[in-house]
Amino acid sequence: MEPNTAEAETAGDAPSPKISARDVSVYYGEKKAIDNVSIDVFTRYVTAFIGPSGCGKSTFLRTLNRMNDTISSARVDGEILLDGEDIYRSKMDVVQLRARVGMVFQKPNPFPKSIYENIAYGPRIHGISSTKSELDGIVEQSLQRAGLWNEVKDRLNDSGTALSGGQQQRLCIARAIAVDPEVILMDEPCSALDPIATARIEELIDELRGRYAIVIVTHSMQQAARVSQRTAFFHMGNLVEYGKTSDIFTNPREERTKDYITGRYG
Ligand SMILES: Nc1ncnc2c1ncn2[C@@H]1O[C@H](COP(=O)(O)OP(=O)(O)OP(=O)(O)O)[C@@H](O)[C@H]1O
Ligand SMILES: [Mg+2]
Repeated sequence: MEPNTAEAETAGDAPSPKISARDVSVYYGEKKAIDNVSIDVFTRYVTAFIGPSGCGKSTFLRTLNRMNDTISSARVDGEILLDGEDIYRSKMDVVQLRARVGMVFQKPNPFPKSIYENIAYGPRIHGISSTKSELDGIVEQSLQRAGLWNEVKDRLNDSGTALSGGQQQRLCIARAIAVDPEVILMDEPCSALDPIATARIEELIDELRGRYAIVIVTHSMQQAARVSQRTAFFHMGNLVEYGKTSDIFTNPREERTKDYITGRYG
């Protein structure tokens, strides 16, 4: 897959950000893990978060759909707007939020249920579909979009956990897609996969970006360069540099970015 930055750049009119983070800091108890980060994320772009282990990529990613709520010591300061609305406001329905801003994890985590149920569960609890035939349609379409349909269409009643690692990860992507999200967050989605399964997921990400805002955390510089149009480099809780992926990799402004992408640390 060729880098596709130029295409995204010429795609035209300046859109408003899907997610806008303003002065976001995250603490675990007394310890500050993210320090005053502001960033805008756009639909139809893949945004890559890169940086050395422990710099706060996962922590910051989790603020974008309030996954940090599940960690009792975590506290988030600042503002995160989804289509201009503060997701940390008290009236926010967090279950609804996580359907709008879906997440795919490092280790594929299908439910211990059938392939069909893995996909149908979300639309059912969110009341997206009422009839069996509607649900069947969503299951097929989600699996199609995730590039898994042909491999599983004859075994929808098999357990999701019986699939290969790469298939499980595509199942998890299909599950996220099924509730019609606006943003998909992926935290090192390929790190447990072999190169072929990884290439599959990268192609899929490129296909999906037409519809969603996608944010991907990756340790692979090659992957960031292949799949993303925007790259954010984090270091020790700070957002050091954010820009076009081609600029970050060929012409970084900051010394720390240069050191990281040339492999001097991390
Ligand atoms: N649940 C937690 N409780 C306390 N501290 C945490 C927790 N999760 C992360 N941290 C700390 O916050 C900092 C950032 O961690 P985070 O997992 O966000 O880094 P990361 O960039 O995703 O690293 P990696 O590349 O290794 O996944 C680290 O110092 C880490 O020890
Ligand atoms: Mg992480």
